[in-house]
Amino acid sequence: MEQAIGVFDSGIGGLTVLKAIKKQLPHENLIYLGDTARVPYGNKSKDNIIRYSIENTQFLLKHNIKILVVACNTSTAISLNILKEKFAIPILGVIEPGARRALEVTRSGRIGIIGTEATIKSGAYVRVLKDMRKDVIVFSKACPLFVPVVEEGLTNGKIAEEIVKHYLESFNTHFIDTMILGCTHYPLLKGLIKEYFKGSVKVVDSANETAKAVKELLENNRMLNYAKSDGISKFFVTDAAERFLKIGKTILGSSMEEVQLVTVEK
Ligand code: DGL
Repeated sequence: MEQAIGVFDSGIGGLTVLKAIKKQLPHENLIYLGDTARVPYGNKSKDNIIRYSIENTQFLLKHNIKILVVACNTSTAISLNILKEKFAIPILGVIEPGARRALEVTRSGRIGIIGTEATIKSGAYVRVLKDMRKDVIVFSKACPLFVPVVEEGLTNGKIAEEIVKHYLESFNTHFIDTMILGCTHYPLLKGLIKEYFKGSVKVVDSANETAKAVKELLENNRMLNYAKSDGISKFFVTDAAERFLKIGKTILGSSMEEVQLVTVEK
């Protein structure tokens, strides 16, 4: 099937998921929407996060996508089930794949989760983890300043280091052996987060795991694109396209050439 895979996030973070999909499924066409006009989602109300997620999906559906990847933990936590009920195409979120991976790598069963306020408050990770393994012990923390740091492209240097320390200090007494990056922006801070724990904690992000789930779904439903050539990726944002292109290139490299500005709000 030549139809594209649709991917959305509130901003730049979902590009970490798109990159993993591109790597595992190079022949697939991809359409990415970053809702940069309304980022961050993490401190918004449930009602607004649901409305934004529906509008983003409707926009991508106009481009005739074959499946949708909600490459945003906040949208996944708050609206995945609603989107699945409302729309007929297959829809994948990022929470279950990341949680599954964390359970594969943990030895002690003591797992940390960091994410946006809305994701942590929703308890979605704790629910999914406990459903899969009852005796798991979970410590969660919202890290609201991580998203603006990433959106500003400040992922290296003193500011990011201080903010990482500020949020992760509380995990020093929890003796976790695995940390889930429960926000698609956070893999861009993965180096600093790993460094903070000095190798004592395995850091799991959902990008590769989500890409694996996408591959499985397409294979099982005979929806793969069997074209021989590399797929085409198209990028849309709801604000500040130039800025998105500049930071996006640091994540995806030269394969990102153009970003189009669109309106998705009704
Ligand atoms: N990247 C998003 C996530 O995975 C949300 C960041 C935000 O908009 O607050 O949660």
